[in-house]
Amino acid sequence: MKRWWKESVVYQIYPRSFKDSNGDGIGDLRGIIEKIDYLADLGITMVWLNPIFSSPNDDMGYDISDYKNIMKEFGTMEDFEELLAKFHEKSIKVILDLVINHSSDEHQWFCESRTSKDNLYRDYYIWREGNGKEPPTNWGSEFGGSAWKLDDRTGEYYLHLYSEKQPDLNWENQKLREEIYDMMRYWLDKGIDGFRMDVINKLAKDQNYPNGIIEEGAKHASFRPFSVNIPKVHDYLREMNKTVLADYDIVTVGETSGVTPQIADLYVRADRQELNMLFQFEHMFIDRYPNKWKKKAWKLTDLKRVLNRWQTELHPDSWNSLYWSNHDQPRAVSRFGNDTAFREESGKMLAMLIHMMRGTPFIYQGEEIGMTNVSYENLEDYKDIEIHNLYKEEVLTGRVTEKEFRKAIDFAGRDNARSPMQWDDTKNAGFSKGEPWIKVNNNYRQINVKNALADENSIYNFYKQLIQLRKTYDVIVYGDFQCLNLEDERVYAYKRQLKDEILLVVANFTEEEIDFKLEDIANSHRAKLLLSNYPQVDETFKSTMHLKSYEARTYKIIL
Ligand code: NOJ
Repeated sequence: MKRWWKESVVYQIYPRSFKDSNGDGIGDLRGIIEKIDYLADLGITMVWLNPIFSSPNDDMGYDISDYKNIMKEFGTMEDFEELLAKFHEKSIKVILDLVINHSSDEHQWFCESRTSKDNLYRDYYIWREGNGKEPPTNWGSEFGGSAWKLDDRTGEYYLHLYSEKQPDLNWENQKLREEIYDMMRYWLDKGIDGFRMDVINKLAKDQNYPNGIIEEGAKHASFRPFSVNIPKVHDYLREMNKTVLADYDIVTVGETSGVTPQIADLYVRADRQELNMLFQFEHMFIDRYPNKWKKKAWKLTDLKRVLNRWQTELHPDSWNSLYWSNHDQPRAVSRFGNDTAFREESGKMLAMLIHMMRGTPFIYQGEEIGMTNVSYENLEDYKDIEIHNLYKEEVLTGRVTEKEFRKAIDFAGRDNARSPMQWDDTKNAGFSKGEPWIKVNNNYRQINVKNALADENSIYNFYKQLIQLRKTYDVIVYGDFQCLNLEDERVYAYKRQLKDEILLVVANFTEEEIDFKLEDIANSHRAKLLLSNYPQVDETFKSTMHLKSYEARTYKIIL
């Protein structure tokens, strides 16, 4: 079924690092307004803003203390209303981050909740008695340490799957759910176009609160078996859909690590009336094992197996998102491409590979100019709570060395994605006239928007062309997908087809020059080259293609 959000191209803005308009070193809403023309020129049709609500910023806005107010560093409600109107003038939709698995411990609900066991808000959060001197269960939090915190005032523990300052909300409580739905209406009635829903598959918890299995070498058990994809989450989402979402023409994107295509169908198949699409994480794990900090060599066939199954195994009435990076992941070109000699080529190749797939593509700020990972000198240069907690838990306890820690954060630290957007080659990369809250990447004199705009062969201009192709050919959005060379470790080739519209995509994932054979199609068809990441390319369609380093091409088959 055709839907506007299937045809969208989304640009993700991490407001804190996008553009600072007032010189306090922190990106803000007026900074975003200044860049609306830049985004419109790129051709994107939707933006997703990471949380913009009042927050003590323990986890950079994912700890919300007032859902109906704007974070003061980011601006005012008037700024937001202007931003929304201006994006809409350019026909760009705006979706906001909905963080409802937890709030900040500074939210008024939690301040009340912790005061006494019989407070009216007590049950808005998850309080439990300890197990003797131990926490109620042996679960670890996502940011290290126990997932339970003892609160002296009442002598009970509260659950926090993330930081201690992010207490989990109790979705069992109907009044809490109603407050959330009311808050969602508040934003939808302002005219926003939907939500990206933070860790939405964790809302329901196993009400038995059992202990988990502690793996060898670990201090805590994973909470995942007891709070990820618990069946009741679907009751909540259906209720949310019926009560709120169904009344608006909007889009919802659930963030759901730990889903397979079969599980994803339960959240997004149209007749389930829950969400529209998901962020799945399977391709985010092909280079890590046994945890996010440990690098593992990955093979192209691993990536193919994951991406192919998300292309082919979802139910026809389900929908998926496409992404390489976001504010929690290292920079795509540093991770899956080559961020030195072939930064431009591999950045474009990666972009083509997913922009020609079925699903709604998301571009993370800076990806369109090939921004790379950072490596800061001092621990204080890093701002992410996850990194600092890791340091305390692992280095200060002697479990890992400084060197191993450094390797881990260079590889997987979230601040890789959070260094300021590189606008030009002036001080602070044109991000701020003040001292940026987090350091700019040293390579900003070379890698910046100003240079990208001036160069017709830049990564930026390549993204622009990819977006235009998606707007031109229905097959890109709605066509079927077929991988043509599952076992090939160097080239990813696939076909898209919608009736008699057929596209062929080939992408060389190596630095080597490769003679790639595609006899079946090439012997029987002619084809027109629609786009390639090398300026001079032999346009004839031959059964053996000579692919340069990281070369990628999209052809339209002529029947
Ligand atoms: C996922 C968000 O993307 C991440 O940045 C955040 O730390 C956690 N959810 C907790 O809200």
